[in-house]
Amino acid sequence: MLRRYWSSHSNFQLRFCTYWSQMSVKHHSVSNYQAPEWAKDILRTPEKRVKLALLPTPIHKWRLDGLPKDVELFIKRDDMTGSTLSGNKVRKLEFILGDALSRGCKSVITCGSIQSNHCRATAVAARELGLDSYLLLRNKSSSLTCFDNLGNLLPSMLCGSQIYFIPKNSKYETTIKPKQKQLAREIEEKTGNPACCIPVGGSNSIGVFGYIEAWKEMEHQNVCTDFDDVVIACGSGGSIAGLAIGNYLTGQKIKLHAVSVCDDKYFFHEHVNQMLNELGISGAQSEDLVDIIDGYKGEGYGLTTKQDHEFLHNIASTTGILCDPVYTGKAVKGMITELNNTPGRFKGNRVLYIHTGGVFGLFDSTINSKLERKYSNGNMFSWFNDFPEKIA
Ligand SMILES: Cc1ncc(COP(=O)(O)O)c(C=O)c1O
Repeated sequence: MLRRYWSSHSNFQLRFCTYWSQMSVKHHSVSNYQAPEWAKDILRTPEKRVKLALLPTPIHKWRLDGLPKDVELFIKRDDMTGSTLSGNKVRKLEFILGDALSRGCKSVITCGSIQSNHCRATAVAARELGLDSYLLLRNKSSSLTCFDNLGNLLPSMLCGSQIYFIPKNSKYETTIKPKQKQLAREIEEKTGNPACCIPVGGSNSIGVFGYIEAWKEMEHQNVCTDFDDVVIACGSGGSIAGLAIGNYLTGQKIKLHAVSVCDDKYFFHEHVNQMLNELGISGAQSEDLVDIIDGYKGEGYGLTTKQDHEFLHNIASTTGILCDPVYTGKAVKGMITELNNTPGRFKGNRVLYIHTGGVFGLFDSTINSKLERKYSNGNMFSWFNDFPEKIA
């Protein structure tokens, strides 16, 4: 009744109402998925979605140091899609795990680096839904000898994941994928139930709907009228692929930028083009949809320097936003540098940064020595007896 009343008014109200009714679905319930109206011509849309994320995530102003004076920066808090489930991966998992449950899978097998946010999010989400998780983690060594500062491994272990260490340089197609398949066969033989294999970062043609839907959410938050540019970190390419598809299918009102923290622009354009292809979206090329910002990997994927730690610390101590060492810290650095050095790369000066999460990466100990230096020389006082002389 309420829905009919609203829909008789305007297109916006209809969209809002449909959106709201989807958002009010109970947590963990699997529902039939209907793609946004503007995505109805996509060849293959997932049939199911399981509700995991706390959506919509908020948008607010971000008083970040070092921006050109005329730039107005806002932040979309996809680091707040949930606590243990925080980050961009949860949006993808709503579709990947919805599909897995509808196929009768009782376990999931995924892969990533030793500190993978995607693996941690998968481990937590799987356990919440009653599924077992198996993680293939790239590591320097074939075992773990130290259980201090576990970072992302801590939630994965607490949620009961079974962990397999694989060589650090393992390639997905040639080494990891066959291992996933082998493990899936073993699990199926032992339990009689199928296991769902999830690629690196959950970036496939099902997971991509996480950020196609995020685009719909952003439309409802007036992103297309309030902003000129959107910036996001890019690791396996799934998030930017979803945003690019959403932006393209709704008239390309925004300029999208993805800061790479690992591969180069050719790799990511290939991935986005592959998604466009698999979803049957013709007439568009990744190269025209996304500006891939290269050059901010620093020492390499997952590697950080003292300067990187200084930068993360400065962001947190001046704005209260925690960025992670592997993705968001490097992406924010890239965004600030490019806004200063090559402003012509941006469509305008109203910029939205999507914070993709990753906070557990801060707990792997690499930043500890920086904090030790700062706090041993000030900011920490003994007040066991008299009031300390120094206040600030
Ligand atoms: C915190 C964080 N931000 C950004 C990304 C990049 O997202 P995508 O893999 O969709 O490119 C990832 C994962 O790779 C991540 O864990």
